[in-house]
Amino acid sequence: VKSLVPAPKPASVKALLESSIPCGYSNSAVLNLNEHDNIASETEESIPIIDFSLLTSSDPIRRSEAIHQLSHACQEWGFFMLVNHGVPESLMKAVINGCDEIFNMSLEEKETYESHDIWAPIRYNTGSNGAKSVSMWRETLRVLMHRPYSFPSELKAVSLGLEEFYIDKAMDLESGYELFVANFYPSYPQPELAMGIPPHTDCGLLTALIHNGVVGLEIQHRGKWLHVKPLPNAILIINVADQLEILSNGICKSVFHRALVNSSVTRMSVVMAYGPLHDKVVGPAPELIDIQGRPPAFTPMEFKKYMDLKQTKIAGAPPLLDQRR
Ligand code: SIN
Ligand code: FE2
Repeated sequence: VKSLVPAPKPASVKALLESSIPCGYSNSAVLNLNEHDNIASETEESIPIIDFSLLTSSDPIRRSEAIHQLSHACQEWGFFMLVNHGVPESLMKAVINGCDEIFNMSLEEKETYESHDIWAPIRYNTGSNGAKSVSMWRETLRVLMHRPYSFPSELKAVSLGLEEFYIDKAMDLESGYELFVANFYPSYPQPELAMGIPPHTDCGLLTALIHNGVVGLEIQHRGKWLHVKPLPNAILIINVADQLEILSNGICKSVFHRALVNSSVTRMSVVMAYGPLHDKVVGPAPELIDIQGRPPAFTPMEFKKYMDLKQTKIAGAPPLLDQRR
């Protein structure tokens, strides 16, 4: 009799994997990555590497060269790898291991934090349950934080030709927001039929990412998808997010990226997204309007409103920034 009772539908991708029945998926909902994608060849150039120790060097020539590279990376790529950043490799590993432990907790424990409210302080989600996200293959833990801003944004300002601390002042970053996101992507038997995270751009000013050394992150560059290959040494992957593109009047690029899954190993990434306070109105910096014949490229908007609007667009409409390009 027991065997006739249908098994309860597993609610986490980890549980799905263990049961080996991909019951959250339907043929019409999965993305076939091979069909329309323009994948760059293996020999394609890879994302720029920025040496943080040179950005802060006391030698003005080396510093100015590094700032020039940073500015090129933000304008042409929207992504770069940061080396010699001073964050101990042991700390980065400990963060990944700690998140791994959380994702290995029982489903009951994790579900205590399940929420679809983007403003919940702690939020656990799985991409496998609910019709809206059937093509996603990941578990996520998000922790929303309010704390003093900790990213050296003055370097960004300098690389845009703005005065030092311009962004910190304009965006009140003393009391900015940080969103911690841990992503867990178990292996999937047919990775071409699943997606860890579909193509998106990030909200906020900047995002910093670490991972467990498994490839899967891809970024869009000149119309092609490019793998981000993990470097042997500890690196931080940094990307420009939407509000920095807006503030820079479109000079810096918040580019589309996505995370793929694979058939053999679990991939993990941990992301820190930095942004202004929710009530901050973000628009192009007046200093960057009408230079090089650039009219204002974006209408100023409250950060919270932008995030809410973006959330409602996720279901398939073009992302907000895209409408202005
Ligand atoms: C993200 O875009 O939020 C995460 C991408 C990744 O897992 O590499
Ligand atoms: Fe992202």
